[in-house]
Amino acid sequence: MKNPTLLYLAPMEGVTDFVLRDLLTSQGGIDFCTTEFLRVTDRLHPNAVFLRYCPELLTGSRTRSGTPVFVQLLGGQAEPLAINAIRAVQMGALGIDLNFGCPAKTVNRHDGGATLLKSCDRIHTIVKTVRQAVSNHIPVSAKIRLGFDDPSVCLENAKAIEEAGANHLTVHCRTKLDGYKPPAHWQWIPKIKEHVKSIPVIANGDIFSVTDFIRCRQETDCNRFMIGRGVMSDPFLFNKIRSHLAEERKADKWSSESLAVEIQNEWHVSTEVIQTFFDRSADYINGYFATARTKQWLKGLSLRSKDAKALFEEIKVIRNPTEFRVRLRV
Ligand SMILES: Cc1cc2nc3c(=O)[nH]c(=O)nc-3n(C[C@H](O)[C@H](O)[C@H](O)COP(=O)(O)O)c2cc1C
Repeated sequence: MKNPTLLYLAPMEGVTDFVLRDLLTSQGGIDFCTTEFLRVTDRLHPNAVFLRYCPELLTGSRTRSGTPVFVQLLGGQAEPLAINAIRAVQMGALGIDLNFGCPAKTVNRHDGGATLLKSCDRIHTIVKTVRQAVSNHIPVSAKIRLGFDDPSVCLENAKAIEEAGANHLTVHCRTKLDGYKPPAHWQWIPKIKEHVKSIPVIANGDIFSVTDFIRCRQETDCNRFMIGRGVMSDPFLFNKIRSHLAEERKADKWSSESLAVEIQNEWHVSTEVIQTFFDRSADYINGYFATARTKQWLKGLSLRSKDAKALFEEIKVIRNPTEFRVRLRV
């Protein structure tokens, strides 16, 4: 039997927080999520910091709809990362993800994220130290970009991660210098899979539609995919991919392309969902935070929905949370 397709919500700092993870996973279709990155320097974070990044630790490291959440750590020093990983697991984390892809200048200047892609030895040491620090049944994964400036280093970095004992590897198919410039270079994934045979590889980058998903699958031959920005413009993207997969199973004589066209029907984010998102974000942090995050999400939705665009244009200037909340309900 073919391995099932697994879909991951990408970690996005400042975007995929507790409230959004809860809301998106409650729509169904997402198998795993990861927290925003928790930066580790030289010491152990207090429990409160873990709980701020991952309130799901209080509920078995799962969102309310039951989706497992991995805690993502970012840093350049193996031992501090390991002690923080141990603490996260003691607090209930179901998995640890190590970030080797963050392109932010401040993070890179402080020896974290994508800058580590220049040294496969350091990546190896970090993954191995964290892997050995937490018990075997806890998955430890790594997320990389293709490289810092040279994409070909993905092969040695992927190998180093595999040999260090990681359970799976996510590849955002761009270098740090590429930033977010399209396209994502999915063609590197088959080469990585040639190199790294014992762990699953998750393809990531530029899946914005079911058609992109189909193309990515064809090009990479993966059965695991991670999606980030696509779900900000289309919160039902995971579900649409699931529907597509179900249709494929039902009628595998149809060509994938014709199916993709079949399911481009409009799914609607109701204003009630947006209101709930605002209220939960306000409960999570405060009204100003909720105002900013709701504007951010509406901006994402605007790419696909005229109604969301109209609402965003109307409320983008409102700063006062009470006024904002009232306006959402008019
Ligand atoms: C606003 C933003 C924040 C991000 N934060 C993180 C992060 O905290 N950790 C991480 O590993 N990747 C982070 N990423 C990268 C995404 O996880 C993902 O690799 C990238 O967006 C490509 O996938 P996509 O084309 O599906 O969005 C971030 C991306 C964006 C746009």
